[in-house]
Amino acid sequence: MSGEDEAGCCADALSDAFLEARERDLRERLGRRRYEHTLGVAGTAARLARAYGVDERKARLAGLLHDWDKGYDDAGIRARVEELGLAVDPYVFEEMPWLLHGPTAAAALARAFPCLPRDVVQAIARHTAGAVGMTDLDMVVYVADALEPGRDYAGLDEIRALAGQVPLEELYLATFRHVFLNLVERRKRIHPQSIEIWNYYLARSHDAADERKGRKGTA
Ligand SMILES: [Fe+2]
Ligand SMILES: [Fe+2]
Repeated sequence: MSGEDEAGCCADALSDAFLEARERDLRERLGRRRYEHTLGVAGTAARLARAYGVDERKARLAGLLHDWDKGYDDAGIRARVEELGLAVDPYVFEEMPWLLHGPTAAAALARAFPCLPRDVVQAIARHTAGAVGMTDLDMVVYVADALEPGRDYAGLDEIRALAGQVPLEELYLATFRHVFLNLVERRKRIHPQSIEIWNYYLARSHDAADERKGRKGTA
C-alpha cells in the first residue's frame, strides 16, 4: 500500500504539505466512499476542535489518517497486528479483527512517520473502541468519525445539534451511546471494553450533574 514505503520521516507532520501528501496516499489506499469519509471526518474534527479549544491542525490530521488501515480485510488486519508486534485482546483478534484497524493504523503511521505527534497517534489508535481516560483530541476524533456529514443514521442529527452546546465529554458520551445502541439494534458484536468505558463516563456525567446541582444549592 502507498505511503509507508516512501522515505518515511517528515520534517513537520502538521504542515499543509504533509497533509496533502497523506491525502494522496489515502486516495490510493481506500475506495472512493471511504476516502470521502476520511475527508468528512477531517473537516468535522477541525470544526469540533475550534468549538472546544483543541488543536485544529492535530484534529484535522488525526481525522484524515484515522482509517489509514481500513482497506485491509480480516486476515490482512491480523497479519498487520502480527507484523507490527502489537499486544491486543485475543478475543478481539479472533472474533472482531476489523476493530483493530485503529491500533494498526496508529502503529504503522508512527513507524513510517516518526514526526507524527504522539497525541495524534493515540487519537487514531482509540477511534474504533474508545477508551477510559480519553483526551480532548481523542474525543474530537471519535465524535467526528460518527458525526461527519456522510453518516446517515437515525438520531444522528440530535447529537450533531449538541456539538458546541454541551461539554465535549457529554458529546462523547452521547455519541458513544448512539454507536453502542446502534450496534445492539443491528445485532452486531460489542467490543469487550465498551461496558467499562460506558460505566466510567456515565459515572463522571452523574458526578458533574451533582456538582452543578450542589453549586446551585449553595448559591
Ligand atoms: Fe475506523
Ligand atoms: Fe472512520
